[in-house]
Amino acid sequence: MPTSSWQELLANSGPASGLLPGQVQVWQMCVSSAHARLPELKRLLATDERERAARFRFDRDRDCYVATRGLLRLLVARYTGDRAEQIQLRYGAQGKPALADSGIQGLHFNVSHSGDAVLFAFSSDLEVGVDVELMREDADFAGLARTSFSPAELNAVIALAPEHRSSLFYEYWTCKEACIKADGRGLSVPLEQFSITRSRKGARWREVETAKSDVFHSALRVRILETIPGYAAAVAAPGDSWEVDKVDVRVPDHA
Ligand SMILES: CC(C)(COP(=O)(O)OP(=O)(O)OC[C@H]1O[C@@H](n2cnc3c(N)ncnc32)[C@H](O)[C@@H]1OP(=O)(O)O)[C@@H](O)C(=O)NCCC(=O)NCCS
Repeated sequence: MPTSSWQELLANSGPASGLLPGQVQVWQMCVSSAHARLPELKRLLATDERERAARFRFDRDRDCYVATRGLLRLLVARYTGDRAEQIQLRYGAQGKPALADSGIQGLHFNVSHSGDAVLFAFSSDLEVGVDVELMREDADFAGLARTSFSPAELNAVIALAPEHRSSLFYEYWTCKEACIKADGRGLSVPLEQFSITRSRKGARWREVETAKSDVFHSALRVRILETIPGYAAAVAAPGDSWEVDKVDVRVPDHA
């Protein structure tokens, strides 16, 4: 049985200070570590979130939603000082969740989950987008790239032997997803009209080249994240002067 609450665990994880302008904090957790605490997390959800949870057909998907939404509420509360269950969310036209009232100091966030991994990105001043993907080795990477990538990205993937395509494919995929999630329009952004390219800022940074100037609301940059082995992840935000801090939350077995 858990002996400490999620509030205590998160309070003792990560940076003691708040968010500085230009700082993106990314929290990473394993959803399975929340399983013993699901009732505690479910109590934090709003009525519409409980209704959504009840509509999931499979227990696994419901538990993942409850865990990630409950953890999101706790993390938002950690930044704003509000009570997690009283936080009010609103949704953009394409479903991006945001704080209904971000107060005097703004708080932007985004969430991604895949397999057992969940990532949360926060910024006080930048619209962030984050993506994590469980990497498969056996997918039809060329076929998927044909439907979702720019011509330059597709060419780079198919130039590799099929058994070496996975890593580059997931790099492009997570970077592109992070971009469309930072923008907030999700899949309404034409995926083939922008390309992820290398950056002079460093090996883990990527630039975003667009076919037209209006593909995104603002010029984006992407940072590839080191994440759980077997997963790929990236975070995107506007401008070129932001940095990333990553927090791994490890829940002890006895907690
Ligand atoms: C939101 C979207 C962009 C990404 O979804 P996804 O990769 O399946 O799932 P993720 O776990 O990364 O993100 C889901 C979370 O993003 C957030 N989200 C939802 N809509 C969003 C939007 N328009 N913009 C940003 N974030 C959004 C939500 O918090 C959501 O979590 P929730 O369902 O628990 O509330 C969605 O439009 C989608 O369906 N993508 C399909 C994948 C695809 O074909 N990608 C091509 C990549 S090249």
